[in-house]
Amino acid sequence: MSLKSPAITYKAYSYRSGSSPIKLVDQTINLVKGPNGDYVAPKGKILVKINYASLNPVDYKVYKKTPAFLTYYNTKKGFGKDFSGLVLSVGANTKTDVKAGDLVQGLNWPIYGGGSCAQYLLVDPVWSPITTVPTDIDLIEAASFPLVLGTAIQMTHDMKFQGSKVLVLGAGTSVGRYSVQLAKIGGAREIVTTNSSKNSDLITELGSTSQIDYRKHPNFLNPVLESVKKSGEFDYIIDCWGGTQLFLEIDSIIRKGGIYYTIVGDSPGVGMDALIGTTKAWFRMARSRLGLLKYHYTIGLLYSNRANEGWINAARDLLQGGKLQIFVDSVYPFGELHEAIDKLENGRAQGKIVLEVAKPNEQTEINPFK
Ligand SMILES: NC(=O)c1ccc[n+]([C@@H]2O[C@H](COP(=O)([O-])OP(=O)(O)OC[C@H]3O[C@@H](n4cnc5c(N)ncnc54)[C@H](OP(=O)(O)O)[C@@H]3O)[C@@H](O)[C@H]2O)c1
Repeated sequence: MSLKSPAITYKAYSYRSGSSPIKLVDQTINLVKGPNGDYVAPKGKILVKINYASLNPVDYKVYKKTPAFLTYYNTKKGFGKDFSGLVLSVGANTKTDVKAGDLVQGLNWPIYGGGSCAQYLLVDPVWSPITTVPTDIDLIEAASFPLVLGTAIQMTHDMKFQGSKVLVLGAGTSVGRYSVQLAKIGGAREIVTTNSSKNSDLITELGSTSQIDYRKHPNFLNPVLESVKKSGEFDYIIDCWGGTQLFLEIDSIIRKGGIYYTIVGDSPGVGMDALIGTTKAWFRMARSRLGLLKYHYTIGLLYSNRANEGWINAARDLLQGGKLQIFVDSVYPFGELHEAIDKLENGRAQGKIVLEVAKPNEQTEINPFK
C-alpha cells in the first residue's frame, strides 16, 4: 500500500482535561520517506486506518479523572483505546507480526496518547497489543474485545479452574461475561454469579450454575454465605463491578490460598468515593502481599507493558472458531460519540458500545475469510 503524501490530516476526538469537553478536532500524523520514494509509517510504528472503536467505562473514567494541571501535557489527548481497522504501513524496525494490508484489532497506549475514536492511529506495538482479526468475526466484533477479554484473561491467569468453585461479581459486564466463559472452559465445577435477572438465561448459557440478582440483593452477603453453607468455600472470586459486601465475612467465604481479583476496588464510579475505594483496595493488596490475609487479593489494571506477553494472541485464538461468545450492545455513527458515552455511563449496556469510524471498503477491507 503506497502513501503519496508526507502527512495525514484526519479527524479525532480529543480533550484537554476532565473539566473540558471531548471535541472532534484535526490531527496530523507525519510520515517518513520510504526506500521507494513513497511515504511510510515512522520507525517502530504501525499506521492503522480505523474502522471501529469500542468504548470502555475506563475511557470515560480516565477522561473524568484527568486533572486540569495536565491540560498542557498533550493538549489533544485521544479518547478510546480499543480499535479495529486496516494496516496501511509498518515503519522500519517495528517488532510486530502484522503487515500492511492486514485487518487488525488492538488496544492503543499510552493512556494520554492517541485515541481510537479517530480516523487514523499510529500504534507503537511495544506498548499496544495488536494482532490480526480472527477469520470468523467481523470488524465490529473485532473492535469490541481487546480491553475486556484481555482483562478477563489477565484476571484469571493464575486460577486453576478445573473442579473449582468460582464467584463472578458483575457477570453481566463485558469483562464478567468473558470471565464466566473462561471459568467454564477451564472446567469449574460451580460458577455463582451476580447479575440482573433480565440476563439470567444468557448468563446461564455462558456457564453460570447459580445466580444472585444484585438488584434484589444489593447486599449479596447472605446469599453468598448460603452458597458456602451448601457447597463449601469459593476458590476464586472475580470481581468485575467493585464493592465491599463480602469483606465482613470474607474469611468464611474464600478458601485459604484462594484468589480474590478485582478490577474496580471497593467502590465503582468516578468520584471521591471511587478514589477512596481504590486506595482501600491497594492497602488490602499490600496486606495480602505481606501474607497478612488468608487469601491472595489483587486489584489489577490491564497492564500495557504486557503487550509483548501475547495475551492478544491468546484472545484471538480463543475467539477463533467460536470458543467464546462476543457481545456488542450497539453501534453508533462517528458523529455520535457523545450519545454513545451517555449510554456507556448509564451502566446498562449489554456488551460493548462501538463507534463506526468508517465502514470497511467492500473491495479492500472486508475480511476475506468470513
Ligand atoms: N482495571 C482494569 O483494567 C479494568 C478493565 C476493564 C474494565 N474495568 C472496570 O470494570 C467494570 C466493568 O467494565 P465493563 O466494560 O465490563 O462494563 P460494561 O460492559 O459496560 O458493564 C455493563 C453491565 O454492568 C452490569 N451492572 C450494572 N450495575 C451493576 C451492579 N450494581 N452490579 C453488578 N453488575 C452491574 C449490567 O449487567 P446486568 O445486565 O447484569 O444488569 C450491565 O449490563 C467497569 O467499572 C470498568 O471501569 C477495569
